[in-house]
Amino acid sequence: MDSKFSIVPLTSQPKIISALTDIIIETVAHGGSVSFMHPLDPQVATAFWENSLAAADRGERIVLGAYDGDELIGTVTLLIDCPPNQPHRGEIAKMMTRVSHRGKGVARSLMQEAERIAINLGKTLLNLDTAEEEGAAGLYEKLGFQKAGMIPDYALKPHGGFTGTILYYKRIGEVAR
Ligand SMILES: CC(C)(COP(=O)(O)OP(=O)(O)OC[C@H]1O[C@@H](n2cnc3c(N)ncnc32)[C@H](O)[C@@H]1OP(=O)(O)O)[C@@H](O)C(=O)NCCC(=O)NCCS
Repeated sequence: MDSKFSIVPLTSQPKIISALTDIIIETVAHGGSVSFMHPLDPQVATAFWENSLAAADRGERIVLGAYDGDELIGTVTLLIDCPPNQPHRGEIAKMMTRVSHRGKGVARSLMQEAERIAINLGKTLLNLDTAEEEGAAGLYEKLGFQKAGMIPDYALKPHGGFTGTILYYKRIGEVAR
């Protein structure tokens, strides 16, 4: 893990929800494909994170935060509440780094910690999807994810227009050895 940043699981606290809300609004405004359209209403973003962190508090997911000092500068979510026939699987979602901190290894650190936690939980398979245009395919490929395929015209980009989505997976833990 990059020692410049501390990576910690986030819990449902107003200060954290406020910082995550700022990050997702900024990410969408800059064209990041994370489920929402620009402009993202702060109330909608806040509700999203309230629900997400409530799920984290219930143990259904892990929302990791990257801190530079006291500032929350990145996040990724590890979804672990998979159907009964997929207990070995985890899904990566909502990978975002603040624009001011991109290109410094924050996403790599967050992903490495998410993978470490997934292995500790006994997971042997991770999957994710990322936008074909303006997505993060290069990041995931550098981290060892395999491309499973592409679905055309899967989603709208935050500023409009269709983009495909690329599906990725990675075998982890015992199975990867
Ligand atoms: C994608 C994103 C999370 C990357 O964050 P970051 O903190 O800048 O990434 P890092 O600095 O940890 O990058 C790690 C490596 O991946 C590469 N990388 C990162 N983002 C990449 C991208 N979009 N395309 C290709 N390569 C990328 C970096 O060049 C770096 O390579 P290196 O280690 O060889 O130098 C950030 O750009 C972002 O928040 N984008 C908007 C939201 C988004 O698209 N999220 C993904 C949703 S699936």
